[in-house]
Amino acid sequence: MKLIYEGKAKRLYETEEPNEVLMEFKDDATAFNGAKKASFADKGRINKTLSVLLYEMLENEGVPTHFLRDHGENSIIVRRVEIVQIELVMRNIVAGSLAKRTGLPEGQKLRQPIIETYYKDDQLGDPLVTDEHIRELNLARPDELEKIKRSGLKVNNILTRFFGKAGLTLVDFKLEYGRLFPNKHNIVLADEISPDTCRLWDAATGAKMDKDLFRQDLGDLITGYSEILTRVQNALAS
Ligand code: TMP
Repeated sequence: MKLIYEGKAKRLYETEEPNEVLMEFKDDATAFNGAKKASFADKGRINKTLSVLLYEMLENEGVPTHFLRDHGENSIIVRRVEIVQIELVMRNIVAGSLAKRTGLPEGQKLRQPIIETYYKDDQLGDPLVTDEHIRELNLARPDELEKIKRSGLKVNNILTRFFGKAGLTLVDFKLEYGRLFPNKHNIVLADEISPDTCRLWDAATGAKMDKDLFRQDLGDLITGYSEILTRVQNALAS
């Protein structure tokens, strides 16, 4: 299989179908723009499984995504897209860089969800950018950005409600979007949705169960990720 792209947590391979790509979830984890690295056996499978379940749910709720089908232990088949070089972060509760940037206390509920856009550029360290920066950098057309933000709000509503049923608080998360091949006219949700890209706290105790376990050395990452998967599966079955 021909490797198209290797990122910090995933690999993309060509398939026989020109507009379909195999996405493999790695066990590797990085934090602080790659400065901190480790590998966790089974992380790839857990994140793949969660992404599949969440993409299926979002598709059912009318959110177009790149997801096509499951493909074994660590992989899925997705539609080929050109990734928009913007990371859309949705926040419901203060944590992470929002606490650092504003001085607001971690754990404080936001009056309204906050939408942030980051320029997906490792060399620059993924800086926060405004709509005007996005326009000047040509990262997305105004109508595309509008669509992306509207989709982000919808995804936030769906996921907040669902994780609530699973006994989890969706603190914040990151989404990426892509332009569908071959004509690149349609924007769909892409990348992954997993505890690598979402902050999830135990609704009862506030315990962190996502990648902050690794970022902040708080405990065993796989224990947290497995518990999230179990709760998601139980919530879907109930
Ligand atoms: P932040 O508080 O560090 O800005 O992170 C906001 C959310 O985005 C959090 O759920 C983690 C996620 N995230 C990623 O998925 N990838 C990244 O590179 C970063 C910095 C954050």
